[in-house]
Amino acid sequence: MSDVSIALRDMGMMITLPCGETYFNYYWLRDACLSCFDPQTRERVFDCSALPSPPRARAAWAEGDMLVIAWEAEEVPSHVPLALLHEVGATGRRADPAALPRRLWYGDHLPNILRVPQQAVLTSDAALAALTCALIEDGIAFVTDMADDSESLPRLVNAIGPITPSAEGLFFDVRVEIKPTNLAFTAGPLEMHTDLPGEETAPGVQFLHCLANTVEGGQSLFLDGAAAAMALKEEDPAAFDLLAGHDIPFFYRHDNWDYRAHQRVIETDVDGAVTGVTISQHLQDDMDLPQTLLDRYYPAFVKFIRMMQQERFVIRYRSQPGTCVVFDNHRIVHGREGYVAESGQRHLRGCYTDRGALRSTYRVLARRGFTGVEAPLGQVVA
Ligand SMILES: [Fe+2]
Repeated sequence: MSDVSIALRDMGMMITLPCGETYFNYYWLRDACLSCFDPQTRERVFDCSALPSPPRARAAWAEGDMLVIAWEAEEVPSHVPLALLHEVGATGRRADPAALPRRLWYGDHLPNILRVPQQAVLTSDAALAALTCALIEDGIAFVTDMADDSESLPRLVNAIGPITPSAEGLFFDVRVEIKPTNLAFTAGPLEMHTDLPGEETAPGVQFLHCLANTVEGGQSLFLDGAAAAMALKEEDPAAFDLLAGHDIPFFYRHDNWDYRAHQRVIETDVDGAVTGVTISQHLQDDMDLPQTLLDRYYPAFVKFIRMMQQERFVIRYRSQPGTCVVFDNHRIVHGREGYVAESGQRHLRGCYTDRGALRSTYRVLARRGFTGVEAPLGQVVA
């Protein structure tokens, strides 16, 4: 660290690290001092608004693995880990083990989807890391050999995060109902969608545990919405910008509830990268964008929906009892072919957890050395 050079400025300092020269603001540096954090709770206990004047460095130097800063108006110097400065200098933010690159996939992906037995997920950090890693990178994985008891699904979900409720409660059952509240609960075909965009924050990670499937038809359909969005960006950037730049209304309405929320069809992160999609024609409310904007928005919307119907994106398979498909509900678009209700029984039990919980679980495992990235594609991890 001896090659660290520092040049003080008015509002911050230039620090030349092995990764290059980077500017750091004085407030940011004061806020990053190790003394700002409670050693037990690890929460921030320093309030930068309590400083009587804006922080300004009098001197700064590298000492061991720390940057030491003497402040003009404070007696106690700050210590900021040089490793943190390296991370921020390289990417602009603290390193995040869960910031794994998305692996876009297409209609030939089915054999490559990770398959992990439930017992392995519940007993092995390596298997749980492989599952959570796949859910971040691919957005989809299968958990096989689910135990045949009523607590089987919550046991699996709780390995990743707490169950998050929806209008249906903690769990929902996808099967034919006499008085359905959702097209999912009929035998009809279900167009490609993400779940419950009418909720303020649509559910994060979805679990669908197949309990029975003896009907004729009813194939399950999945596609990677991020791959479709990137294809749209390539083929029609103006259409992509419209879908990524405007919120449209969704609803979920029945006797006892009336949810309404606005969402973007193409979701992007703070860096502008595509994270996924929100789409549900059966829960789409009357568009409320300016009518003249709709002249351009609707053609883009229709183009994207048609694109997602192309075989190049879609995988289809017959859900097998004892298998649970787990997927990112903000990225993976799913649907179902119609089936003959009288031909047998088809029953999937579903629930959700939060995507923040998924990433939290992965980070804790990665910190212990279980990254899951070495898991072979499409292979059973035990
Ligand atoms: Fe669904």
